[in-house]
Amino acid sequence: MSTRPQEPAPEADRAPVTLPQLADMKLNAEPIVMVTAYDHPSAQVAEAAGVDIVLVGDSAAMTVLGYDSTVPVGMEEMLMLAAAVRRGLKTPLLVGDMPFGSYEGSNEQAVENAQRFIKEAGCDAVKLERGGASVDRARAIIRAGIPVMGHVGLTPQTATALGGFKAQGRTANRAVEVAEDALALQAIGCFAVVFEAIPTEVTATLMPRMDHSVVIGIGAGPAADGQVLVFHDLLGIFGGHTPKFVKRYAEVRDEMVRGVGRYAADVRSGSFPAPEHTYAIAPEELEAFRRYLDQESLTAEFGGDWSATEI
Ligand code: KIV
Repeated sequence: MSTRPQEPAPEADRAPVTLPQLADMKLNAEPIVMVTAYDHPSAQVAEAAGVDIVLVGDSAAMTVLGYDSTVPVGMEEMLMLAAAVRRGLKTPLLVGDMPFGSYEGSNEQAVENAQRFIKEAGCDAVKLERGGASVDRARAIIRAGIPVMGHVGLTPQTATALGGFKAQGRTANRAVEVAEDALALQAIGCFAVVFEAIPTEVTATLMPRMDHSVVIGIGAGPAADGQVLVFHDLLGIFGGHTPKFVKRYAEVRDEMVRGVGRYAADVRSGSFPAPEHTYAIAPEELEAFRRYLDQESLTAEFGGDWSATEI
């Protein structure tokens, strides 16, 4: 039975989540909760809700930066978002997502950019996508002392090569490829691997072999050690396409549109600002101010020497 509280514990009671703690949760079959965040307020929400891992996902490209895919987002943008998340987070493990083009070139490039996530943005770990050459990159980063989360199945950075945003591992051959990627990432020491858009049975079949790395699923069924969802998808903030694996827990965008619409209507009708939203000045101060403005020197030439005048 889970010993973790159902409701988020008061912030003061919770120690920062560590890698050994995540490994213990896996061992004890305690579901691990991961969510993305891209700014200070979403980090504060994740903190208050008591999640275990926060990912500054390159999904930020689409959810907050308005790109068509995750491909265009760069290191500088990701570092700025990750640093904002860090400032709002105390407890969950913070993972920075290495953007497309920031690690594929060489092990040196991968290590250098992973170090930037740790040094400049205060992340605890980094994530990168795919098996193949990414396994070498992940190994180099781990050897440089930085924990790595892998990502297999549907890997959005290379979705074109995968035939689009489709579930992966739906044929025996493709399931074997997904399995080889996951097992290779586990073998070189990734503390966790994300399984994205993989049939439930493929995940369940693989789980007994994933005996070291924590498996975090997104559209990979319930057998994974934990689940991740994109913040804007689960809260209904993002107006774009919502994948099948997303469950909506709120409709925040609709509420935001309603709120801004009510504000616009109040401004246009003159009912905002009301007296309770305004500041007062003492009558004698106001009178002195008016006398000051009435002085001929000021009204004649706006650039008069205000500081030298007694009021
Ligand atoms: O970028 C992202 O948000 C991700 C998660 C979907 C795992 O990679």
